[in-house]
Amino acid sequence: MIQISGVSKIYKIGDVETVALDNVSFEIKAGEFVAVMGPSGSGKSTLMHILGALDRPTSGKYILDGEEVENLGDDELAEIRNKKIGFIFQSFNLLPRTSAVKNVTIPMMYAGVDRDKRFGTAVKYLKMVGLEDRMEHTPAQLSGGQQQRVAIARSLVMDPAIILADEPTGNIASVQAEEIMAIFRKLNDEGRTIIMITHEADIAEHAKRIIHIRDGRIRI
Ligand SMILES: Nc1ncnc2c1ncn2[C@@H]1O[C@H](COP(=O)(O)OP(=O)(O)OP(=O)(O)O)[C@@H](O)[C@H]1O
Ligand SMILES: [Mg+2]
Repeated sequence: MIQISGVSKIYKIGDVETVALDNVSFEIKAGEFVAVMGPSGSGKSTLMHILGALDRPTSGKYILDGEEVENLGDDELAEIRNKKIGFIFQSFNLLPRTSAVKNVTIPMMYAGVDRDKRFGTAVKYLKMVGLEDRMEHTPAQLSGGQQQRVAIARSLVMDPAIILADEPTGNIASVQAEEIMAIFRKLNDEGRTIIMITHEADIAEHAKRIIHIRDGRIRI
């Protein structure tokens, strides 16, 4: 499903070069649940951006579901992101002053799904994450764990094969974090590939495999 080989990412600001990823190679098969662990600044978010085709490597090769990402144009990448990958971020990235149900419909608006279907699908996934009684609440009216569950529902509406989560429980109390992990395990049991960045060992334990990263390099 995911193959990266010899991937490096060098950020250049003025004369200062930062090697965020240094010759990284690994493979993730369909249906895996992988945690990526490493200290702050080790390159985890950089890796997530490359895996999610939000950014391109400076060098190296990335094959996503059989397609070499380097050969794809920006429009094709945007389409792949919307259809194949569900993104979940530490800070939820929900639209403020917008109801939970409306937030969840947004990827379907981009994809041109018609209105009735958008609403029905949003309700289905809000039910799945246990928020059927919070559909009209705005993010400010929800707890952190509930906001993250809205974000998870939003990540699922296009039925992605891959879920990419960057510190999904970083802003959430531990009881609610366990609820989020229960949802992730269920999604993985359904066959979805999950890649989750975390620096918390008890969260990483929910994954079936852990990739350790340090100073932009993979460590066994
Ligand atoms: N857009 C950018 N421009 C320049 N340097 C960057 C950029 N993004 C990240 N970096 C640098 O690349 C390195 C890796 O950053 P990255 O955000 O991937 O770390 P991380 O492992 O996600 O850290 P954290 O756990 O704190 O989120 C850091 O040294 C960072 O300062
Ligand atoms: Mg990060």
